[in-house]
Amino acid sequence: MKKNAKISAVAGWVPDYVLTNHELANMVDTSDEWITTRTGINERRILKDPSKGTSDMAANAISALLEKANISADQIDLIICATVTPDMLFPSTACLIANKIGANNAFGFDLSAACSAFLFALDCGAKYITSGIYKRVVVVGADKMSSIVDYTDRKTCVIFGDGAGAVLLEPDQESGIIDSILKVDGSGGGYLKMIAGGSLNPASQETVANRQHYIYQDGKTVFKFAVTNMADVSEEIMQKNGLKGEDVAWLVPHQANLRIIDATAKRVNIDAKKVMINIDRYGNTTAATIPLCLADWEDKLKKNDKLILAAFGGGFTWGAIYLKWAY
Ligand code: UT7
Repeated sequence: MKKNAKISAVAGWVPDYVLTNHELANMVDTSDEWITTRTGINERRILKDPSKGTSDMAANAISALLEKANISADQIDLIICATVTPDMLFPSTACLIANKIGANNAFGFDLSAACSAFLFALDCGAKYITSGIYKRVVVVGADKMSSIVDYTDRKTCVIFGDGAGAVLLEPDQESGIIDSILKVDGSGGGYLKMIAGGSLNPASQETVANRQHYIYQDGKTVFKFAVTNMADVSEEIMQKNGLKGEDVAWLVPHQANLRIIDATAKRVNIDAKKVMINIDRYGNTTAATIPLCLADWEDKLKKNDKLILAAFGGGFTWGAIYLKWAY
């Protein structure tokens, strides 16, 4: 019998602190007008508590998820944490999350694919369900971007925010994830990266002095590739599954820039009213953008709604997932 992996619950968590465009304009040479017109962002959330990391945000999102789904942490088989800001290089953030929420029967791992990581992790988690190996997989996208943002660099500091979003995957016969197209192109790696802190450029006084533990982005180039590839892959998955714009209930795009989102929606002919957008409130939370959208729109979603999820990010990485909402 055919088996799908469905999203059976979703929850998000963002920190309380609101960093507004006006506050940023007091920190670097920028303006509310520039940020809103060039990106669509009005404010973003920042995890201010220095004793908390990505695992804490993820654990908060998953705790809310388990409460909604009415299951206990020890019923989880697997936790996949999509992140580019792990608490540490090792142990993996998934291990720390499992310990924090008391997921005593789960194994877990981190998945690194920058802004596409949630899609890659969702596809990966779904395969564990459809193979019949596991019954309950939690996929969490979580990023404390403020830990790697240079708040003296106006080109990047206005874009990013902190947050986490989690989904529960369970088996289903009809609804759930129908198709996915995922891609990488490492020749784009130089345009969006954090140079130091890995095995190639371990931390040193020099790397700190050169500010190489922060995000570097060639915004214009990334923008160009993001617009083309996110639109292309969304079109490809819709064509492959015989979907027209009017068949799709919701486009759920990665929230990197409102102009990229608008261009993608336009290309696949999906009405602006059917596009989930919360970049104005959260900015780019990297692996958390898509599950945070799903959590924000949960009340409006109906069983069997056709959703297209699409993302583009550092690597380059990109992809799209077609799913039928399960509840
Ligand atoms: O999520 C993962 C993937 N990431 C993305 O998809 C991000 C893709 N890139 C972008 O969203 C956009 O490129 C940015 C929002 C990062 C930048 O917008 P842009 O329209 O591409 O601006 P730009 O980098 O071409 O800069 C235009 C001008 C420059 O000034 P000059 O050289 O024309 O005098 C910048 O110095 O805007 C200036 N600028 C700013 N001005 C005020 C750059 N950042 C700012 C700022 N405030 N924050």
